[in-house]
Amino acid sequence: MTNTLLLVDDEEDLLIPLRVLLEEQYSILTARNGDQALELLAAESIDMIISDQRMPGMTGVELLTRVCELYPEIVRIIVTGYTDVEVAVRAINEGQVYRYINKPWSVDDMQLVIQQGLEWRDLVRSKGRLDADLSHAHKALAERNRELKAMQSQLVKNAHKAGMAEMTAMVLHNVNNVLNSVIVSGQSIVNLTESKSVEMFSRANKLLRDNMENVEDFIINDPKGKRLLEFYLSFETAFEELNVKVARDAKRLMEMVDAIIQVIVAQQSATVGGLHPEFLSASDVIDTAVAIHRSSLSQRRIAVEKNFDDVPLVRIQKTKLIHIMINLLKNAWEAMNDTAPDERKIIISINRDEENVCVKVADVGCGISDEDLPKVFSHGFTTKVNGHGFGLESCAHYMREMDGEIKVESAGVGQGATFIMTFPIPQPGAVI
Ligand SMILES: Nc1ncnc2c1ncn2[C@@H]1O[C@H](COP(=O)(O)OP(=O)(O)OP(=O)(O)O)[C@@H](O)[C@H]1O
Ligand SMILES: [Mg+2]
Repeated sequence: MTNTLLLVDDEEDLLIPLRVLLEEQYSILTARNGDQALELLAAESIDMIISDQRMPGMTGVELLTRVCELYPEIVRIIVTGYTDVEVAVRAINEGQVYRYINKPWSVDDMQLVIQQGLEWRDLVRSKGRLDADLSHAHKALAERNRELKAMQSQLVKNAHKAGMAEMTAMVLHNVNNVLNSVIVSGQSIVNLTESKSVEMFSRANKLLRDNMENVEDFIINDPKGKRLLEFYLSFETAFEELNVKVARDAKRLMEMVDAIIQVIVAQQSATVGGLHPEFLSASDVIDTAVAIHRSSLSQRRIAVEKNFDDVPLVRIQKTKLIHIMINLLKNAWEAMNDTAPDERKIIISINRDEENVCVKVADVGCGISDEDLPKVFSHGFTTKVNGHGFGLESCAHYMREMDGEIKVESAGVGQGATFIMTFPIPQPGAVI
């Protein structure tokens, strides 16, 4: 598109040669004074104004200052004699004028200045467009950021809900296991009370009652009486046995009810609060997690050994640590599927070093190969037929959220695995 130039001078000696020089390249408008120029500027779309400094009424710099205020995009050039250079330079420094050209000007200079002026204007325009694009992109990014933040907090909430659901399922599963044993023990007591000896005892009593009148003769002379006496004598042992069995089953029953209560209490203490970080004893939280798993562990005949040192309280989010422990314990017992039942063992130890409280969960299971060791915390990594490969990833995520970390050690396949969690020890006086 052809650029439009407005030339302003009260004398023909600037206008005529300039018009001749520029007419081929640009579309040219002329004005004889500042007011005329302003009228044209209001009516036409103009890219550049070239004005002489010395004009009656409004000087060139005064005109260009007005143009700068009204149409800042128009490139402004002043043509001066030597005496006015100072004014022109000040105008340039103050931003009202782009360049000045000294009289007498050379054709080459004039063309160069005009060309550069227009290029400069194009640069300013595209910078403006870039700025606008950038600010648009910035806004879009901020918006996207907000969306992501909202999504992240939703994901955290969902993960939390999923964690709770997982824990609840685990608790129900464990309560269910114990309830099955309750039913077995209850049935055994029912069987004992319905046993033959009770029936035989009432038959013997009936025989005794029928012969009550001559009981002495019946016992001494009647073979039935003799057997009756022997039956009564032998009944002591049977009664003792029955007593032992009922007492044993009743005790088992009480233990199991106690186990159910413990699981429920553990679940309650895991879910009441625990959503926010607190300074807590790692051993208390770990005891709770182990209690939730009590029946699953004993059903698999897994011994749990605890070596807990006295350590400072650390910043823990209870539900998260329980979630982590549930995953680690589940992985540990899955790793010991092929271990002989009397060798199955999980060792949980808690100790500290200078800066951290360390919780270690070690098993004696299938171990992890050197090749798999760096992958176990990755999303979706699993070696199990029905595995998801999410458990350890979520553990690592939760540890990071608690400012801690989790790592794994294994001497190799068949050598067991140890998961090590570290929680930074808070500085004295630290607040959550
Ligand atoms: N205690 C362990 N002993 C040996 N290998 C383990 C142990 N814990 C984890 N692994 C390895 O790390 C992998 C990833 O464990 P992760 O808990 O993330 O997933 P998963 O148990 O396979 O599936 P899920 O998501 O259902 O828990 C496991 O498949 C297993 O190969
Ligand atoms: Mg797992």
